[in-house]
Amino acid sequence: MSRIVIELTNRCNLSCLHCFEERHAATGDLALVILDKVLLEGKGCGIDHVSFTGGEPTIHREFYEIIRRVSQAGYTFSFVTNGMNFLQIYPLLIQHRQWFQGITFSLDGACEYTHDHLRGAGSYRRVMRAASICVVKDLPFTFNMVLTTRNRGEVEEMVALAKQLGSGGVRFGHLMFTPETVSGELNLSPQERHDVEAEIWRFQKSSPISVGMAPGYFSKDPFFPCGPLKLEEYNLDYRGNLTLCCQLSGYSWENSGADAVGNLHEVNLSQACEQFRQRVATYLADKQEIIQKGEFTELDHFPCWYCVNYLKKVPSRDNFPPPSWEQTDGPNKGEQINVQFEFNRSAAS
Ligand SMILES: C[S@@+](CC[C@H](N)C(=O)[O-])C[C@H]1O[C@@H](n2cnc3c(N)ncnc32)[C@H](O)[C@@H]1O
Repeated sequence: MSRIVIELTNRCNLSCLHCFEERHAATGDLALVILDKVLLEGKGCGIDHVSFTGGEPTIHREFYEIIRRVSQAGYTFSFVTNGMNFLQIYPLLIQHRQWFQGITFSLDGACEYTHDHLRGAGSYRRVMRAASICVVKDLPFTFNMVLTTRNRGEVEEMVALAKQLGSGGVRFGHLMFTPETVSGELNLSPQERHDVEAEIWRFQKSSPISVGMAPGYFSKDPFFPCGPLKLEEYNLDYRGNLTLCCQLSGYSWENSGADAVGNLHEVNLSQACEQFRQRVATYLADKQEIIQKGEFTELDHFPCWYCVNYLKKVPSRDNFPPPSWEQTDGPNKGEQINVQFEFNRSAAS
């Protein structure tokens, strides 16, 4: 069976440094009519799980009604949140506990200072309070941390904190390259990405809780199969577009639309899913051609890096200043990657 990740809204109640500017002034919410379409046709398309993201999904004006409809239609659900609203919404999860599978809290630093610096004052304490509520009410939860220059040094502390707080696990993910992350000097260099991945794979082996990485980590296999490429995950943005890629949902440089396969205001879900399958086939054929032409670079082995460029979700690198590691005149200038990698790990889910 497959899952669908729905961007409920493009609005957010935080202005995280590593997120993109568009969200900070956004106004768009998913229309309930689109949700109904998904719930009506989803089972026939092999979908049995709905996952919510945003923006901040819990600030959708109809969030309570959405959870009620998803449960009533017999889909399991989960969502990722900054935890700011958790005190208001947790009773809803208890009420629909049979269908609720788990919550992911974004926690971008093991230390209060680091997290709040990236996400805003007081946000760390909200996540801590939310995690405590989950423990008391027996609601399953995990943490997600996006790796940046600000929190790179806190991986070990994050694993320890997640365990101490009673989390089911912690998942790390690489930062998507946007103009904002470049100007904020938040991106890790390719070598730093390799180093932090090696550290995470070590904790994966030794930690008593689940430690993993979101797809996007270095893979020798150029056809690394993430959820969408395995046809196990569909993504729907708040405008109703079924999209190929789960990263930077609702975001498209110059609205190129290269990522959208069909809009549910215009087509039904099964048509959009069929277009999705065709788009995956085209994607794979294009990649094969790029590899044959010798244009697949070392950086493209970080799969999300390749995809957001291929799908024009971020501006071409020529449109913004090079990241700091490319500007240096020191020994790392024009850094090339030549890293021996260990592949006998179990991949993060
Ligand atoms: C866009 S947020 C939406 C859900 C919710 N507002 C939250 O903060 O968890 C989902 C996840 O994307 C991450 N994110 C934001 N900007 C990103 C970027 N440029 N690259 C990678 N992940 C990013 C966030 O840190 C968060 O964990």
